[in-house]
Amino acid sequence: MIIEAKNNRQVCLRRLCSDDTDHLCNYLQGLGTVTKSRFGPHGFDKQSITDFYKESNEYLGYIGEDILSGNIVAYSVLKIGYLSHDSYRVQTYGLKLDHQTDCTFAPSVADLWQSYGVGNALFRYLLSDLQSKGIKRIILWGGVQSDNEKAISFYLKNGFKRLGSFEYNGWNDDMMLDIL
Ligand SMILES: CC(C)(COP(=O)(O)OP(=O)(O)OC[C@H]1O[C@@H](n2cnc3c(N)ncnc32)[C@H](O)[C@@H]1OP(=O)(O)O)[C@@H](O)C(=O)NCCC(=O)NCCS
Repeated sequence: MIIEAKNNRQVCLRRLCSDDTDHLCNYLQGLGTVTKSRFGPHGFDKQSITDFYKESNEYLGYIGEDILSGNIVAYSVLKIGYLSHDSYRVQTYGLKLDHQTDCTFAPSVADLWQSYGVGNALFRYLLSDLQSKGIKRIILWGGVQSDNEKAISFYLKNGFKRLGSFEYNGWNDDMMLDIL
């Protein structure tokens, strides 16, 4: 699917495939320090990426690719089901998680491309994929740092609700979206 970002550049949204590993590595290593500190479902080197996607077919990657340069400019990771370290916490809010119908989400956009609508577009794109897989609810991968206003605003804009807060390297919020 091709969209036009607010910087007037065309971006192709699609599923990550194994041929993208080198490009993905360049994307991750080029992220700014703050963005890196907020996004970390796996290591940023080639081996970590390969191992991560080899480990389980429950992990799905989605990318936004700048048509002009061919560079990856956005990357989101989804896990079908939930991670045990998140489930312990999330269940304290009274939610009963289900590996078939819940999934776990971590988004990122390259620093120079943030706030141009690409994060939103990639989220909408993967959401339609999730609906066809029978997923009914999304939780955040490790929550979101409470001082990450841009991400919290992004989640609220997309209908996520705050579940509660927890302390881990500072304060973090758990958020959840019921997919209609
Ligand atoms: C959070 C993130 C994925 C959002 O993607 P994005 O492409 O920058 O966001 P979009 O341009 O699609 O905007 C979507 C919404 O995000 C919020 N947002 C985006 N830029 C913002 C800014 N500068 N200030 C406040 N809110 C902002 C707004 O609610 C916006 O909706 P609007 O355009 O209708 O106002 C991206 O900024 C990012 O990668 N941040 C660093 C990594 C990160 O924090 N990941 C989340 C870890 S939990």
